[in-house]
Amino acid sequence: MRVFTGIQPSGTLHIANYFGSIKQMIELQNSSDLFIFIADYHALTSLKDPKALRENTIDVAISYLSLGIDPNEATMWVQSDVKEVLELYWILSAYTPMGLLERAHSYKDKVAKGIAANHALFSYPVLMAADILLYDAQIVPVGKDQIQHVEITRDIAVKFNNDHGDIFTLPEFKVDDKVASIPGIDGAKMSKSYGNTIDIFMSEKALKKTTGKIVTQSVPMEDPKEYKDCNVYALCKLFMDNNELLELQERYKRGGEGHGHFKMTLKEKIWDYFSQAREKKEYYLEHKDEVIDILDAGANKARDIASKKLELVRQSVGIYR
Ligand code: TRP
Repeated sequence: MRVFTGIQPSGTLHIANYFGSIKQMIELQNSSDLFIFIADYHALTSLKDPKALRENTIDVAISYLSLGIDPNEATMWVQSDVKEVLELYWILSAYTPMGLLERAHSYKDKVAKGIAANHALFSYPVLMAADILLYDAQIVPVGKDQIQHVEITRDIAVKFNNDHGDIFTLPEFKVDDKVASIPGIDGAKMSKSYGNTIDIFMSEKALKKTTGKIVTQSVPMEDPKEYKDCNVYALCKLFMDNNELLELQERYKRGGEGHGHFKMTLKEKIWDYFSQAREKKEYYLEHKDEVIDILDAGANKARDIASKKLELVRQSVGIYR
């Protein structure tokens, strides 16, 4: 089963990225054929700082490796290292009705937010379709905001296959509902675009400061507190087993402690949880050449598959060589 995912190198990874996606990848990598790439072409739609794009690209690779992606189990590469995807993108564009893109929520949302629309932002789903179809992806784990993009991919694939036979595999999306329920420090869904994230690799001091800012109810110290709708509790759930959670519930009910104490507990949990990943990250930062080798090997493997598929597509549409 080929599980396929792309991640934009648009900034630092936060804990909703981890629990919503990365953790599942790590669990899946032994039992499936996991393909994971860094979508730097996609990032160009919004990131216009070359230094940041270059640094983020390698940083995402380092972070994934540090968190547990095993290059012997998964294929990891940088999107732009396999340029076949751009040719497929163009060919698929000719099979993409305008209406399909005009209906894309993610594009409409961005425009509504006042983000200046460029053509790449508009045609973003076609490039994403090219990513997915080039590699015969079967399962595409996504956040809710990306479901429509996988549906668009299917629509494009069906249109192409109708004309040319079974060239493309139709992918299925897989959503983890957990992501939607991970609150950021303001209680809204944790998302980089809301500026409410808790980042995985932040310093201990920054982590303390960030968790300290989590919005909670204001209740006198001695009074019992409600854990059910508490953002701190909701985040603790990600890091605690049942016994620890029951204990924490007791602390809420007992009173005598403020939310600041629960925030400290949360901070400790997060800090411990990622301690091994932090050490690995330090190692990879010192050994970037190893990371580049891993990405090169991934790109070679990906290119093998991509070039065969692209050849079929070129023949189908009549590209003359
Ligand atoms: N659009 C995805 C995101 O922003 C990233 C992405 C690009 C992707 N191409 C993909 C995800 C292909 C899955 C499959 O999260």
